[in-house]
Amino acid sequence: MGYQVRDYVVDDEPSWLRCRVLSFLGAALHEKVLVAKPEVSGAELVAVDGDVVVGILDLAVDGELATIEAVAVHPDHQHRGIGGALLSRARARALALGATTLDAWTRDDAPTLRWYRGMGFGESDHHPHVFADHHTSADEPARAVVARPGLRAVKAVLHADLGEEARSRREFARVRVCRRFAIALRGELAGRGDDVDHRAVAQDRHRQR
Ligand SMILES: CC(C)(COP(=O)(O)OP(=O)(O)OC[C@H]1O[C@@H](n2cnc3c(N)ncnc32)[C@H](O)[C@@H]1OP(=O)(O)O)[C@@H](O)C(=O)NCCC(=O)NCCS
Repeated sequence: MGYQVRDYVVDDEPSWLRCRVLSFLGAALHEKVLVAKPEVSGAELVAVDGDVVVGILDLAVDGELATIEAVAVHPDHQHRGIGGALLSRARARALALGATTLDAWTRDDAPTLRWYRGMGFGESDHHPHVFADHHTSADEPARAVVARPGLRAVKAVLHADLGEEARSRREFARVRVCRRFAIALRGELAGRGDDVDHRAVAQDRHRQR
């Protein structure tokens, strides 16, 4: 199969959405289904086989920090270098837009963690996510959040402090670790992650999502 990496165009949207949802089906982020493509500030890249989107990469650039908002390859097309090709194009685009660090947040899927490490990223931060769901256990949501009078929590996703991880794992069935991977785009730091200031900025931004 041949594929081409190019910029996303509006007509790609149905194929982009299909590619994204199928790519994430087997991943820890599977429940985050989108029905419209979000706009991002940096670059919107796709890998296409003819008119069919088989890989996506959205990049947000804010000053010197470029963040991969989404990277996904259709399951029928993984392990053929498409993710690597998208990443390589994204790195060049991020550099051209003035970024010095490229980062991404991902949950604990072993193949994805291996992929980021294999692509030269270093892990620079992590924190647990707690999923409290009444389908898992009727009282999980109430153990996680206090709803205001008149409302009853049925599902909640919470960022937990690192010190809360062991306790959260005892109390909730689903706790996934959210990890930040980063790579420096130029200079001596290339391949070694990034500096502390970027990490703090990225953490703040991530918590606001
Ligand atoms: C992570 C992901 C984007 C990687 O995409 P991909 O196209 O499979 O990536 P690549 O093909 O470039 O690399 C994957 C593996 O194939 C290998 N590979 C690369 N080119 C290859 C080729 N031509 N033939 C065989 N193997 C190849 C790579 O060495 C790599 O090996 P590793 O996983 O053991 O390190 C993809 O697996 C995916 O969409 N996962 C689900 C969604 C997800 O979790 N996204 C990240 C969330 S932040």
